[in-house]
Parts: sequence; structure tokens; C-alpha cells
Amino acid sequence: MSHLVAPSLLSANFLNLEGDIKMLNRSDADWFHLDVMDGLFVPNISFGFAIIEQIREATTKILDVHLMIVEPTRYLERFKKAGADIISIHMEACKNPLEALKTIKSLQAKAGVVINPGTPVSVLSEVIREVDLVLLMSVNPGFGGQSFIPGTIPKIIELKQMIKSLQLNVMIEVDGGINLQNSFELVHSGVDILVAGNTIFASADPCQTIQQLKSIH
Ligand code: DX5
Ligand code: ZN
Repeated sequence: MSHLVAPSLLSANFLNLEGDIKMLNRSDADWFHLDVMDGLFVPNISFGFAIIEQIREATTKILDVHLMIVEPTRYLERFKKAGADIISIHMEACKNPLEALKTIKSLQAKAGVVINPGTPVSVLSEVIREVDLVLLMSVNPGFGGQSFIPGTIPKIIELKQMIKSLQLNVMIEVDGGINLQNSFELVHSGVDILVAGNTIFASADPCQTIQQLKSIH
């Protein structure tokens, strides 16, 4: 399967969100990546249920919700109700990640687990059998427009190996600082989903940039 592209709406124009959503609907984008921040797990606050509900009304594409909030278990049902198809939680953000992932699955959503750049791949061994995807952060979460951390590449390779040796069907998503230059190596290291915010929305022609990210092979 060729890789998917998931634009992060954190870099969209919130004064003209409808325009950006229509552009994404027309584009080759596969998923909408929605970054939810609570100002506690990360030093920034983004958006919540009301915005996600409105986005749900405006697209039929998959909503990939990345929760950067502490103890996400408190809110999983509400994110599902708001329209999330995929819900990803951080290993670092909850006392019992396994329980959170099982709850996501019981809600009939796809379950993702996320690790920060400083967290080793080995911690995933306790949850990897319960997830549909692993999201590797390639920047410290909180803000769009940061530079890609090169140490992510060996983590992708290690994760790929872990998935293969356990014979699991788990997708690998990478998020942060992805651009047209580094995506080639990411795709070749085995990444299934490229998340990109700034690279897409700050470009002169976002639709074309999405197409370029899609056509890397
Ligand atoms: C960062 C978010 C990312 C961010 C990516 O905390 O999880 O999804 O929006 O933005 P870029 O692609 O600009 O690094
Ligand atoms: Zn994200």
C-alpha cells in the first residue's frame, strides 16, 4: 500500500476554516489530522469538541484525532461522539494507556498510541497488540512549524521491526516537521502516514503540495 497524507489543521486559517476544508476535500489528502491540546500535557491550547463537530459536518474524509491531553480516558467518548474515526493517546499522558486504548476500541473507533521524541520505542511493547496505529512524534508536541528531529528515523526502523516480528498489522504515522525533502526517507523507512501542517498550509499551492507529498515513492 502506498502511504497516506494527513494534513494537520493546526496550521489552517481559522478565520476561513471552511475554505481550507473545501480545499482538503478536493485535494488528494487522505485523513484530516486534528491536534487537541490542553495546555497541561503540552504548553499550548488548540481546539476541542465544537470545532471537531463542525469539521465532521464539512467532510467525509477520516478524522484522525491526536490527543495531547492528560488522562484522555475522561474524554474518549466525547471525541468519538464529536466525529473522530481514529483517536490517538500519548503513552506519557496516562497512567493506564492499555485501558484507554481498549476503551477507544469499545467505542468502535480506531486506536492509536503516540510517543514523544524522548520516549523509547521499547515502551510500546506493552500496548502494541491493542493498537491500529503508532504515531511517532518527530518534534516535541505543542506547536506547528518546528524542525524535524532526525533521531526519529532509527525509531521508525526499530518500530517497523517490532511490528514485523510480532506479525501485527499496525500502521506507522509520523508527525512534526515533515516537508518535501525529508518525506522521501520517511516513506522509504516504512512510514504509512505522513502528517504535515506548515509544509502544506504555508505553501503557495496547498493542493499541489499535498499531491507532491502523495506522489513521493
Ligand atoms: C504538534 C502537532 C502536529 C503539528 C505538525 O504538536 O502534533 O500535528 O501540527 O505541524 P508541522 O507539520 O508544521 O510540524
Ligand atoms: Zn499531531
